[in-house]
Amino acid sequence: MKLCKKCHKSGGKLAASHTQSEWDDYFEDHGKLLKKVHEGDAAAMKKLESKKFEKNLKHMRQFFHKYASDSGNVPACN
Ligand code: HEC
Repeated sequence: MKLCKKCHKSGGKLAASHTQSEWDDYFEDHGKLLKKVHEGDAAAMKKLESKKFEKNLKHMRQFFHKYASDSGNVPACN
């Protein structure tokens, strides 16, 4: 989550700003859509194209899915 937190502050809040199916779309195909929304931001792209992002993709997808707006879960700590 460190990868996103720097700019988006709380991972939990970010997660809750989208539904589960939206997150599925964002992380599909190695985060293709996620990269698309960050296209204009060089600093973000650097992170999204790093090995670290690729490595953590699955975990992040699970996290955002778990705390999506329609999940009913609220992160205990962010
Ligand atoms: C270097 C800064 C930076 C990093 C790192 C970053 N983002 Fe973003 N993100 C932005 C900016 C800037 C926008 C564009 C905001 C807009 O246009 O509304 C954005 C937009 C988004 C959007 C679409 C708009 C919204 O708020 O729903 C999503 C979803 C998103 N980011 C998720 C993520 C996720 C998940 C990560 C971590 C893998 C991440 N971002 C990492 C800066 C960053």
